[in-house]
Amino acid sequence: MIGVRNLYIKNDTTNPSFSFKDRPASVAVSKAREFGLRIVGCASTGNLASATVAHAVAAGLTGFVLMPDTVELPKVRQASIYGGKVILVDGTYDDVNRLAYLLVDTAEVGIVNVNLRPFYVEGSKTMMFETVEALGWRAPQHIVVPMASGALFGALYKGLHELEAFGAISDADTVFHGVQPTGCSPISTAFEKGADEVTPVRKPETLVKSLAIGNPGDGIYALNVARKTGGTCQKVSDDETVEAVKLLAKYTGIFAEPGGAITVAAVKQMRENGVIDAGDEVVCCVTGAGFKVDEVVEQVSGPAYVVPARLDKILETLQTNQPLSH
Ligand SMILES: Cc1ncc(COP(=O)(O)O)c(C=O)c1O
Repeated sequence: MIGVRNLYIKNDTTNPSFSFKDRPASVAVSKAREFGLRIVGCASTGNLASATVAHAVAAGLTGFVLMPDTVELPKVRQASIYGGKVILVDGTYDDVNRLAYLLVDTAEVGIVNVNLRPFYVEGSKTMMFETVEALGWRAPQHIVVPMASGALFGALYKGLHELEAFGAISDADTVFHGVQPTGCSPISTAFEKGADEVTPVRKPETLVKSLAIGNPGDGIYALNVARKTGGTCQKVSDDETVEAVKLLAKYTGIFAEPGGAITVAAVKQMRENGVIDAGDEVVCCVTGAGFKVDEVVEQVSGPAYVVPARLDKILETLQTNQPLSH
């Protein structure tokens, strides 16, 4: 359907809090506990929030999240269900992140993606360990990764090279492709321009809110990874991303949020632009579950038929779209 024969999905929609963020949050929260911190939180575009509070509260710590007030409602509710203190800030993710940096200077708190960030990255790299294991202990030819801050992208590269150093694989020559939504694509724009610096996007405009980081902390590292592996940084429109949500659901049974399915849209685009060949092996990282984004659930779901409690009505409804045969 998208032009490649050897496509693999690394499905992180089924983690405990339904995104890949359980990986970084679990390691960072464990470290916070080891350091004796009692209060642990995060700055989040939505997914890290639930992962952080779920792990923190279960570990007996106080969990809190700082998020922009534009985050999707299911993500706000999910974070509060775990017992976390949810603080919504009237501003962008970058405003939230700045406040998080000020907070760690002022109070004795752990913030998983600020003062615990090195440990956070250690968690994310396990996605590469599992990918290599699933392929029978070899590196994939191409990997396609959603980018917000760019941390996951760099973590996967780190994980791959650690496996090589450890002797688990002999050829860490995977080509890394990062993907951002067109309405917030500071890393991909720098890649396109051949720039060495990432110019922040002041006001992200995209429905792919989980990837809406205008000033990506790991942007320069992500650029380096794309360049030194012979990879690329892609931009994908919101419409193509929503199409990919539908395609992925229909052909694989995986219902992803746009921030996860964007990699599938990117592969289609990369085939059309000749970046990859039909016979190439591609791993798409699908990093978050679809139910977290109500706006997209509405856009991609079909109608439900309401009928009286009668068998003939059910048969009639089934036959409207396809003839029934025995
Ligand atoms: C679903 C999803 N995928 C990917 C990412 C990218 O993460 P990073 O900030 O490590 O680039 C995020 C970030 O929030 C996300 O929520």
